[in-house]
Amino acid sequence: MRQLFQNLYPMDEITIKGLTFEPYISREEIAKQVERVAAEVKRDCVTDSPIFVCVLKGAFMFAADFYRAIDMPKSEIAFIRYKSYLGTESTGEMNKILGLNDDITGREVIIIEDIVDTGLTAHALRQDIEAMSPMSVKMVTLLYKPASLKVGKVPEYVGFEIPPKFIIGYGLDLDEQVRGLKEIYVLKKED
Ligand code: IMP
Repeated sequence: MRQLFQNLYPMDEITIKGLTFEPYISREEIAKQVERVAAEVKRDCVTDSPIFVCVLKGAFMFAADFYRAIDMPKSEIAFIRYKSYLGTESTGEMNKILGLNDDITGREVIIIEDIVDTGLTAHALRQDIEAMSPMSVKMVTLLYKPASLKVGKVPEYVGFEIPPKFIIGYGLDLDEQVRGLKEIYVLKKED
């Protein structure tokens, strides 16, 4: 495994803000699962013009690859952003930073998430979107930590189920940095 990663990864380990991360999911494996979930979502769509809602910032890279892979010319893509922190204080609730301007009444909606951890973000999002009277709401997430889920539904489409470890890259950040990494890295256990 290690040998394989050394051939695939430009960096073996990355240290950022004093934390060391090691390779976890290669770009080839990401590409394979993106193609798979895109095919599954496409197969299950009941209309040819669903609206995909990308949750910023984390899902931007997954959404770009997923949206190309799904290849549905009559579909639309929109962007939404939530934050549980305002300034440096946690408000304990989800704040909408960028809302949906699109009319989704009666539409087939598919939310594109980067990761479902506690499920708080996904739950708040679903509630807000369901309040806008769509035909249906489903969620595709690149990553899902089942052991961490506290509220809400299991996402309908999952790229990777992972243990409750902290990961970065391919859109996922550490204090806004490292979103541009092409692979996913996991926080290395202290020896
Ligand atoms: P939630 O706990 O399911 O509401 O997840 C909230 C947000 O936390 C996600 O959308 C991510 O932006 C972030 N997050 C959760 N787990 C990780 C991780 O392992 N790395 C980076 N960001 C994460």
